[in-house]
Amino acid sequence: MSERAQAHRVFAVVPAAGRGERFASSGTPGAGAGQPKQYAALGGSTVLDWSLRALRAEPRIEAIVVALREGDRDGAALIAALRDPRLHVTTGGGSRQESVLRGLEYLATHAMPAMPTTPGAPAAAAAPAVPEDFVLVHDAARPCLSVEEVRALLAALAAGAPGAVLAAPLFDTVKREQGGAVADTVDRSGLWRALTPQAFRLGELRAALLAAAAAGVAVTDESQAMERGGVRAVLVPGSPFNIKVTRPEDLTMAEVVLRGRGVSRMRIGQGCDVHAFGEGDHVVLGGVRLAHARGIVAHSDGDVIIHALCDAILGALAAGDIGQHFPDTDPRYRGADSRLFLRQVAVRMREAGFALVNADITVLAEAPRIAKHRAAMVENLAADLGVEAGCINVKATTTERLGFLGRGEGLAALATVMLQG
Ligand code: CTP
Ligand code: MG
Repeated sequence: MSERAQAHRVFAVVPAAGRGERFASSGTPGAGAGQPKQYAALGGSTVLDWSLRALRAEPRIEAIVVALREGDRDGAALIAALRDPRLHVTTGGGSRQESVLRGLEYLATHAMPAMPTTPGAPAAAAAPAVPEDFVLVHDAARPCLSVEEVRALLAALAAGAPGAVLAAPLFDTVKREQGGAVADTVDRSGLWRALTPQAFRLGELRAALLAAAAAGVAVTDESQAMERGGVRAVLVPGSPFNIKVTRPEDLTMAEVVLRGRGVSRMRIGQGCDVHAFGEGDHVVLGGVRLAHARGIVAHSDGDVIIHALCDAILGALAAGDIGQHFPDTDPRYRGADSRLFLRQVAVRMREAGFALVNADITVLAEAPRIAKHRAAMVENLAADLGVEAGCINVKATTTERLGFLGRGEGLAALATVMLQG
């Protein structure tokens, strides 16, 4: 590390105040609903969470300032939930450039505890960033940034570069369009796609962004502002997987990239439910009404298959159990169709970024016999969960007349599920 670089601290700014208009206006169902793209579900979390991970994984970055849209409570709650003392929040502006500037101002005016230089040493006194400190600016919409790319940028700075821009060379033949037709072929040699992060000294970057704004130049990245002042940043080859989520199909791509890195999460869950027989002439199992000599004693319709399945899914999500979400003291659930519970649990699962891989359910009962109804039950469960029927299995066993189930005092179901995030 050169002496100049060693003497300075490293920070990050993440502009996350955009509205994601191209994402929302794509016409893809669901993409326009509600939240901007940085809060879209991705890999069991959100785009923003993933965009912060590689920065948070780099110990040399002392603080990360996220610029959120004014009044963006969801973003603030998401950051708070990460419980990372290096994460700070500020209010962004009407353009990306403005949001970055706000992040830089925050760094320059707020005390940040300096990192101890040797492990175990006490943290140095808190101090705001100074103009010579380096700042990495990274889009909140780039969730596939790798720790290797962050390290490569820091290595370029440590080697004395005045700035460093992560970029990917262009390999496709590039055409210029005119009126919907090909006008000519652009010489692609020496052309790169600029990615983020891009790193510059705080003072120089702030001055360059202010100068661009004063000149009425809307810059789309930090380097563009710095180039105007003649600063020649080093191009650091980045990964073609470091994509920016601009339209919904980019989110699919990001999902594939993260999955390829083995970051997809698998969860397992189990559920069990028992109900006693009582007055009545039928039972409901898997949403199918079966004639029976006895009924079920329950607050809802007493569907043990669905209750066990809901519990298994909630268990896999680490989200408690069915009694917590649909309390049997709530009059709204008296005699309720349990399929409504299952549909709500399915929504919760999807919101948490998980999909059902499979569910296996065993009914324990001497009677009624369920064999003839299995296909109908599977069809109901698959419809409520929004999955293929081939993901779900319902089977039954007696308990050889042993115990309370064997004596025909009630019936029970066990469910096991696998979820993928
Ligand atoms: N950004 C920001 N403040 C703005 C506009 C953009 O902090 N006023 C951020 C976005 O949140 C994103 C990054 O800048 O992380 C890159 O911008 P872009 O991909 O253009 O995002 P949006 O502006 O949100 O999308 P669009 O242009 O489609 O509306
Ligand atoms: Mg934009």
